[in-house]
Amino acid sequence: MASQKKFVVTGGAGFIGSQLVRTLLPHGSVAVVDNLLTGHENNVAEVRSQIEFHKIDIRDAAALLPVMQGVDTVFHLAAIPSVPRSIDEPEPSHTVNIDGTFNVFRAAQLGGVRRVVYAASSSAYGDTEVLPKTESMAPRPMSPYAVQKLVGEYYASVFHSCFGLETVALRFFNVFGPRQDPSSAYSGVLSLFMKHLLARTSPTIFGDGEQSRDFTYVEDVAGLVYKASLANGVAGKMFNAGNGGNFTLNQTWKLLQEIEGVSLPANYGPPRAGDVRASMADTASAVRELGHAPQFSFEEGLKRTLEWYRTSL
Ligand code: UD1
Repeated sequence: MASQKKFVVTGGAGFIGSQLVRTLLPHGSVAVVDNLLTGHENNVAEVRSQIEFHKIDIRDAAALLPVMQGVDTVFHLAAIPSVPRSIDEPEPSHTVNIDGTFNVFRAAQLGGVRRVVYAASSSAYGDTEVLPKTESMAPRPMSPYAVQKLVGEYYASVFHSCFGLETVALRFFNVFGPRQDPSSAYSGVLSLFMKHLLARTSPTIFGDGEQSRDFTYVEDVAGLVYKASLANGVAGKMFNAGNGGNFTLNQTWKLLQEIEGVSLPANYGPPRAGDVRASMADTASAVRELGHAPQFSFEEGLKRTLEWYRTSL
């Protein structure tokens, strides 16, 4: 009998990482690397007995090395997310997102790992003249976070070309869903919108609310991440990981009020520094080369997420 594949998920106690752990468990054994800075052990509570948990900070290169032994695929999702956080506190996001990412690639290479799938970000595109955003467009990072995530992509590519490590970078497009933490000012906008909706309070929209996003449901992203670990002929490449949709914040807040049957006009504040105006993924390459097949419409994803917050907040 073939032995079970071993996977490592950095950031496995985070919002997206903990979903990925659940997606991976039927396919192999899973070790989580997380320093619990923005992740929570709660996120993996009911699968805790099925995983190995390593409380490691990815800035600690030496601690990563033993975790990589005998591992087939590393899924590198650990990061300090958030565009505004990277502007308010650039040092920690720089060291975690750039130095930490280097450490993960290096440890994987030295440990003989077959492939690393890296969580890159749609923020790398910045403001482009045209939508949808295709992988061949020149990057135009507008914030430290966007730069950091882009550097990780370049490292992914170079670890493949110079060191022979198989890498695939996926640019996540505004992921939302159950377990996204709404407790910080840096939380993803949909988690904040849902918290306000259920508390019957008004959210604050930064700017005119006409900025748009390709909101992508977390289970679809996790499914694509797993596919990226299996696909042939994709090592060294970067793909969009989005849904291909495009909704403004005003449309989104309206839709949520309709789903919940309430009327709560939003407050409007000044625009946020480093904010991208419009975002939408061209999914053609991911569909063709990785077998991407999103299962959840935006509205379906919103309803499922709202139900989760209703019972979990
Ligand atoms: C960016 C990236 C995304 C990445 C994420 C990590 C883009 C297009 N997307 O998300 O790929 O995964 O960083 O953190 O760059 N907003 C409000 N009110 C609030 C909070 C936010 O109006 O209370 C607005 C923001 O100004 C922004 C939008 O909502 O226009 C989305 O913000 P956020 O959820 O923080 O994500 P991005 O910065 O778009």
